[in-house]
Parts: sequence; C-alpha cells; structure tokens
Amino acid sequence: MRKLITLIAMVLISFSTVRAQEGMWIPSLLEQLNEEEMQGMGMELSAQDVYNINNSSLKDAIVHFNGGCTSELISPNGLLLTNHHCGYSSIQSHSSVENDYLKDGFWAKSRKEELANPNLSATLIKSIDEVTDKVLAGVTEEMTEEERNNVIKDNVRVIKEAAIEGTHYEAIVKPYYHGNQYYLIITEVFKDVRLVGAPPSSIGKFGSDTDNWVWPRHTGDFSIFRIYAGKDNKPAEYSEENVPYTPKHYLPVSTSGIKEGDFTMVYGFPGRTDEYLPSYAVDYIMNVQNPAKIKLRETALNIMDKKMRVDDATRIKYASTYASIANGWKKWIGENIGLKQTNAIKRKKELEKTFLAKLTDDQKEYGEALLKFEDLYKQRAYYAQARDYLIEVAFVSPDVISYAANFNGLFRVTSEEDQNVVIEKLKSGIKGHYKNYDAEIDQKVVGELLSHYYNDLKPGQYTPYLQEVYETFDGDFNRYAEVMFEDSYLVSQERTEELLSMKPKKILKKLKKDPAYMLYKAMLDHYRGEIAPKYSELEDKIALNQRVYMKGLMEVFPEKRFYPDANSTLRIAYGQVKGYEPLDAVRYGYQTYLDGVMAKYVPSDYEFDLPKKLIELYESKDYGPYADENGKMPVCFIGSNHTTGGNSGSPAINGKGQLIGLNFDRGWEGTMSDINYDISRCRNIMVDIRYVLFIVDKFAGAGYLIDEMTLVTNDTKAVEETATDEKPVMAE
Ligand code: ARG
Ligand code: ASP
Repeated sequence: MRKLITLIAMVLISFSTVRAQEGMWIPSLLEQLNEEEMQGMGMELSAQDVYNINNSSLKDAIVHFNGGCTSELISPNGLLLTNHHCGYSSIQSHSSVENDYLKDGFWAKSRKEELANPNLSATLIKSIDEVTDKVLAGVTEEMTEEERNNVIKDNVRVIKEAAIEGTHYEAIVKPYYHGNQYYLIITEVFKDVRLVGAPPSSIGKFGSDTDNWVWPRHTGDFSIFRIYAGKDNKPAEYSEENVPYTPKHYLPVSTSGIKEGDFTMVYGFPGRTDEYLPSYAVDYIMNVQNPAKIKLRETALNIMDKKMRVDDATRIKYASTYASIANGWKKWIGENIGLKQTNAIKRKKELEKTFLAKLTDDQKEYGEALLKFEDLYKQRAYYAQARDYLIEVAFVSPDVISYAANFNGLFRVTSEEDQNVVIEKLKSGIKGHYKNYDAEIDQKVVGELLSHYYNDLKPGQYTPYLQEVYETFDGDFNRYAEVMFEDSYLVSQERTEELLSMKPKKILKKLKKDPAYMLYKAMLDHYRGEIAPKYSELEDKIALNQRVYMKGLMEVFPEKRFYPDANSTLRIAYGQVKGYEPLDAVRYGYQTYLDGVMAKYVPSDYEFDLPKKLIELYESKDYGPYADENGKMPVCFIGSNHTTGGNSGSPAINGKGQLIGLNFDRGWEGTMSDINYDISRCRNIMVDIRYVLFIVDKFAGAGYLIDEMTLVTNDTKAVEETATDEKPVMAE
C-alpha cells in the first residue's frame, strides 16, 4: 500500500498544479501526497511537524468541539479557541435577563469564574491509520450489500476493541472514498470544558443573518473555553478538583499579520462534502432539491421576520431558530448560483464522457456503475422529494409537529411506571420549549407550509390524511391550522401543563384526538410505510454504485489526486490568502478593517449595532500592538482553503505553524464548493487573530488571557517553542 501511495504521489506531484488547493487531506498521508506542494507554496514545516504520532505536532492542538465544530489549544493551560457561533448555546445557557452574556459578553476574571458546561465535549486525535484490509477481511465479490455490511460491522467491532484495550481512549472506524478505504481513529475525549470568555453578540455575531455567508465580512466570531483534566492530565468528569489540561502542543499566536499570497492551512473537522457525485445527482440537487427547500424556508422566514421586526420579545425568542433556518436557506441560494455559473452539470458530464471513453475492457464494471446512476436517481427523485418536504414541513420550520413527536414516546411504553417516567420528562421540557415559542407565528407557518406540501407534491408522496384535510377545509390550509391551534393541547404552555397533569390513560386518549398529534402521526406513518423503505433501498444501491464509481475514477485517472469527501474526521486544507473576482468588473480585497465595521454601524439595530467601548477604541485608534502595518485594525480575511460546515472554529495557520486566524464561514459565491470546488470563486472567511487579541486585551480588558498565550512574530520558528512534552522520542 505504502509503495502504491508513493508511486501515486510521484505521478501526482507533476500533475498537482492543475487543481492545486482544492481538497481536504488526511493528515497522516501528507508526506506522500501534499508535503512537497505545501512547501512549494510557502510552508516551512515538514509533514511530520503537522502530524506525528510519536512526537508532538500541530495535530495535538486541534480539537473537535462537541462533535460539530473545530477548536484549537492556544496556551499551555488548555485554553481553547473556537467561534462565537460554536460556543453560542453554551453562552446562551449561562445567560439570563440579569446576566445577559449573549448581549454583553462574558469574561471570567479568574479560573474560579470559568463556567462549567455539562455535556460539552472536546476530542483530541491520537492517531489515524488505514485499516482497509482488516475491515474488508472476509468480504467477497459475491456478497450482497447486507452480507458485506455485516462482515464489516463485525470486523470494525474487533478492530476497535483491540485498539483501545487497556487505555482510556476511544476508537472510531470510518469509511473514506465512499467505502473504498477505512481508517481507524483513536481519540481522547475531555468532558470538563469551561467557558472562559465571549465578546458581546454585537461583535461575535456582528452582521448576523444579513452578513452571513457574505464577504466583505466584519464579524469577531470567536469565543474562548478551557479544557480541564484530572490531576493525571487525563479526561475526567467535571469536578472542582480538576486542573487545566496540559496539551502536548498548543498553537503560538502570530502578531505579524498576513499578506496576499501567503501560505495558509486550515486544520479541522469538515463535516460533509459530495465532490464525486454523478451529473444526475447534481442535477437533482440544483433543479429539484435546492429550489424546493429554498422556497419552503423563505415562506417560513418571511412569516417569522414580519413579527420579529416589530416585536422585541419575538425577535429574541426566534433569534436562534431564525438563524439556523436562514443559514441553510442562504447557503443553498449561493450554491445554486455557483453551480450554474461554473457550469457544474456540464463539467460533470464532460468528466463522465472522458471517463467512459478511457475505460479498458476489464474496467467495464465502472462504466456500468456510472450508467446505472441515471435510472437510480430518477427512481429516487420521487421518494427523496417526499422526504425533503416532510423534513422541512414537519420538522425544520414549524415547531408544533416536531413537538408532538416528543409525545410519541408515551405510546411506546406500556406499564404505568414507564409512562410516568416519560410524562415527567415531558413536563421538565415544557418551560424550555415555550420559552422560544410563538403560537401566532407557528400557526401561520403550519398553514402556509402544508399548502406547499399539498400543492407541490403528488398524492402518494404525502399522507392520505392531508387529502382529508384538503377536502374538509376546501383546500384552505390556513383555516385548518387555525382550527388545529384552537383545539390542540400542544400550542400553549398552560394547555400542555393541563394535559400532562392528567392520568396516563387519559393523556393517551386526548393525544389520539389532538389535531397536532394526529397530523404528526399520520405523516410519520405514511413516511415509515410508503417512503422510507424504498428510499433506503435506493440509497443503498446508490451507495454501492458510488463506491464502484469512486474506485473507477481513481483507477481511470491515476494522474489525478483524489481527496476523500469530508466525513467529520480531521483534515487539512491549504491555500493562500487571496481576494477574488466574483463578477465581471467586481474585485474583492482579501482583508477587512475596523473602518468597515464602523461603516456598517447602525445604532440600536439588532444586526449592526456596536458596543460603545469599541467605537471609543476606534476613535482613539487605541489598537495596542495589534494594528496592521498601515496603522489600521484588521478584522477578517479570506483564503483559498477548501472548507465546509464543521470547519468553523478551525485554526488558520501560516507557513511556520503559527495561528493567524480563525475560520468561520465561506463567501456566498463559493458555497457550491461542497459539490464543485472552483478556485476562482471559493473562499473561506477567517477572523484575523489580531482582532481576537485586540478584543480580548483592549476591549474586554482580559490581558491576563493573552499572558497565557505565546505571541510570536514572523521571525520565530514555532513548533519547538510550544511543544510542552519532553524531548521527542524518535520511533525506530
Ligand atoms: N454560515 C456559517 C456556518 O455555516 C455561520 C453560521 C452562524 N451565523 C449565523 N448568522 N447564522 O456555520
Ligand atoms: N459556518 C460553517 C461552520 O459552522 C463553515 C462553513 O460552512 O464554511 O462550520
């Protein structure tokens, strides 16, 4: 295998300039696949400095933040940097009307004041190794997918058990390249992660939804946590006795800033990409899926926005819901524009034509796989559309239907004792649910979305119950929603409390006749009976086909370099600090400044207000040592690093291994990078680390946190400086 990779690498390097900078690479394979190119672009480190399992390396500073975002260690005392939007729910959970940390920010003045977060985890990576042969041991060509999966499942269990036996580590085995390769990842999961500091939302979320996915950007999207460990420096449940974790490596922080063309790498946990889809799949996403989801979300967002604009209480209640619905909505609009402007389908079709033309006689199977996609995606469309609508209409935008789903648990238990357990759990969730609920908005959302659901789909795609509703209410789904909200127990706190104070038997009886629950149940039953089985069957066939096609692509284009689609595992993307030209005659610079923040300032606006202190600092130009050479205060910058959701909070690292920025977003014109990366327009957006330092030091007066960090300039070589372990022990 190693030889093969080296061989591939040699061919690749000669080819690598063709689509250089695209890709999310496996850290343990950098040496073979990327080191030379990275060094050619300005990296002064070796692949071993970036990833090493024997000695400390950059890897030891990169932390999966609660399984969704990325974060990085920036001090010898476990200080952890991530985005404001990644820490958002923790910050929110500590906030109240008296201590509104979302609004005012939060800064622990000492270790004692750092706030514990039950259920927040921080995962470090110990090693990443290919285990394909072991995972596929016993798998034969003749096996059905099910048989194959069973063999794999058994093998994976054995591999994982053996890998962590006698340690406190955890093990994950994940498929890469659509099941053509498998890697074993050993992790160390810390469970005591405390909130240390966060700027006010007017800095950390400046520009909010209007600026989301947009460049030029002016958001200080960061927050600071700290990992605590037991006295032995190993993971431990929260305890006052715990001490700050001593990392094997933490990132030194550069105050030297960046210039266009500088080498950058983003080290983190990208969630999901689909770079190797056939044209038929892209066609479906672009022409069916995205337009539908955009339309449904737009309908719901408009209803919410109307009331949020005129009523402060509603605005606060719906801030988080609105943000998450709008995040996908806006991304897909950008994605579709990008796919269109880069002729994604045509590009895919050309690739497929070349692929078919190059196939040799013993590669026929790959061609068959590709051709099968057309029919599979055609068949899938009906079920996928039904599924997409159900998710949007029942679970994403309206609240009452997914709330009703919680009550389903009551029907699954039989003894009164178990029923009471469920009831108590439901009771304890009532307050939290209604805190962010507005029945007036929800009723409108339900009415409008059901109307789209019924009118856009064919009868078999939704439950017959909806047909009955249509007939009973003469097609007026808003009227139906009105009646539902008059009659249901699940649309107000008082009524839900009333319901749950009844005897279990009676609750069940009432639920069976509750219009919200009835709708939920009808939707779910229909989905389970008519949609899900066929959908999963087709998905399985597509997955198999994709595995064969992927293998084919790698074999037929041996000169091309293939990176595996993102799968929430540790990856490295690298590129350069770089502006772009999204449109004819439009050119974007690579760096924004505090001047731009001020230019967007709208006093007391909910998206563009600013704290007084920041304005004062701007006016007095009190930037300390963090200003740019030109005297201005840098805020954000962009680069050509290939990133996706999950990369939020990832460190942007310069050629010396120093922290220069904090990844948090992408430019709108390039969100199609998940499907069709294009260097001319795909840019990741990072907070300039100097802005982070400035806010911590000058704005928040938390200079004691800066004292913990190792600030460096361009003249420092980093890796040795901040390795905290003993002298490296070299492997034989
Ligand atoms: N677009 C970024 C990402 O996908 C940031 C989202 C959070 N910010 C917001 N305004 N919704 O996660
Ligand atoms: N904002 C995304 C995140 O939270 C990053 C992206 O999609 O570019 O991970």
